[in-house]
Amino acid sequence: MDRTIIYAHRGASGYSPENTISSFHKGIELGANGIELDVHLSKDGEIIVCHDGKVNRTTNGRGYIRELNLKQLKKLDAGSWFSKKYKGEKLPTLKEVFEVFNKEKMLINIEIKNIPFIYPDIEKKVIELVESFNAVNRVTISSFNHYSLLEIKKINPKIKTGALYMAGLIRPWKYAQDIGVDAINTYMYNIIAMPSLVKQSIDNGIEVNAFTVNELIHIKKILETNLTGIITDFPDRVVMVRGKM
Ligand code: G3P
Ligand code: CA
Repeated sequence: MDRTIIYAHRGASGYSPENTISSFHKGIELGANGIELDVHLSKDGEIIVCHDGKVNRTTNGRGYIRELNLKQLKKLDAGSWFSKKYKGEKLPTLKEVFEVFNKEKMLINIEIKNIPFIYPDIEKKVIELVESFNAVNRVTISSFNHYSLLEIKKINPKIKTGALYMAGLIRPWKYAQDIGVDAINTYMYNIIAMPSLVKQSIDNGIEVNAFTVNELIHIKKILETNLTGIITDFPDRVVMVRGKM
């Protein structure tokens, strides 16, 4: 297999405010091959990049994204909570991320946050956007809501999908084959506890990505398994072990 891909988790979120244009730029600057980001829908149906369903933790505002419209969301400061150096950073829309980063041919791992089914048609909206930027080959759509992934495959089977999971599933590659996803995106301790799951999955045609791998000791152990991708807040640390690519 080719060398392991590095995804900057919510951008290089160890160094800059997560899920902002600055954090995605930082990820690229530090040698990531791709970015990972999270999406929700605003009240007026825009795809908003943010981890939490509420804006409280990462902006100066309050409330659920789904109860605020784009104009209200764009007034928020998504940088100052991290450092005053980032004052004025905005919550990006997914469209804005593609406008800035699609030219750079970056891989983009879009995590759809849709538990419990609060965003009707989010899958369709995300796919339409990805297709409009001709980015199907560069995108993976992941989710803890595996029904969302079924929906993605139903709409466009060519889009790569990754089933996120935390708990120690038995033979996760079989589950992945069964539901028709391309990858398992697993909590890193599942790989540390059972490194052989990487080879078994890849031998069975299922890619493996691990999140969120930040400590050097874990980065080293996980890279030894030759997995598909590593999702990290500190892309430079992974580059240090893996090398540039
Ligand atoms: O993509 C893996 C990882 O981002 C999942 O967890 O909570 O950081 O979205 P979380
Ligand atoms: Ca995520």
